Amino acid sequence: MNAVDSARLPPRSAGNIIVAIDGPAGAGKSTIARHLARRFGLLNLETGAMYRAFALKALRAGVSLDTVSALEQLAAHTRIGLEPADGDNRVLLDGEDVTALLRDPVVTDAASRVSIFPTIRAWMVRLQQQMGASGGVVMEGRDIGTVVFPHAEVKIFLDAAPEVRGMRRYDQLGPQPALQPEEVIRDLRARDERDRNRADSPLRPAEDAIILDTTHMSLEEVVRAAEDVIVAHLASLASPTRH
Ligand code: DC
Repeated sequence: MNAVDSARLPPRSAGNIIVAIDGPAGAGKSTIARHLARRFGLLNLETGAMYRAFALKALRAGVSLDTVSALEQLAAHTRIGLEPADGDNRVLLDGEDVTALLRDPVVTDAASRVSIFPTIRAWMVRLQQQMGASGGVVMEGRDIGTVVFPHAEVKIFLDAAPEVRGMRRYDQLGPQPALQPEEVIRDLRARDERDRNRADSPLRPAEDAIILDTTHMSLEEVVRAAEDVIVAHLASLASPTRH
């Protein structure tokens, strides 16, 4: 992120505000959230990592990903923690650091499947609300601005065309990717379909979210636009005309 002109604005703490970043897979939420957290002195909390950690536990336990009662039983004996560290999150599953295991495509697919169940979501939402209760956070996910923190001071919904998001994901896979670009785009579309069409808290922008379509934007432009949203909010707080 060194291409970003971080000297453009003086460093400024955003205090205890809550910044909600939502959007589909591959829209750049993690990168932007990490940057905003560093820039404004906020904690970055990646809620997708929590669904991924629970999915990992279900896979390890051999629990059917479609049987909600089995998942609920498992959830009753599961502890999930996020430890923000230098803008990223260490993810603890029952005390074990599982951070390095969560990007596996099998875990990715399983996370999207377990996240359709309302009782699993209610449990996660409760945890997320506790984690962000004192503010001073950027929280990133699918339902932060709509369900977890509907009163968040700043809501940004990042989107981009599926082909563009798929290619961004493909480029992150390293020098000898196991998947072809078409396969990455296909998997991403399947996940989109589930995330957008589930009955409980489907992925959608909050009514008061600022929507950034990043299809034709560079990373630097997206960072700048997201920063500007927060700066505008902070300026509105400082404005003497505010009632
Ligand atoms: O953001 P991510 O790709 O790490 O999320 C993994 C899955 O978790 C995603 O397919 C949907 C689910 N998820 C969710 O339903 N609600 C959230 N707030 C975050 C993630």
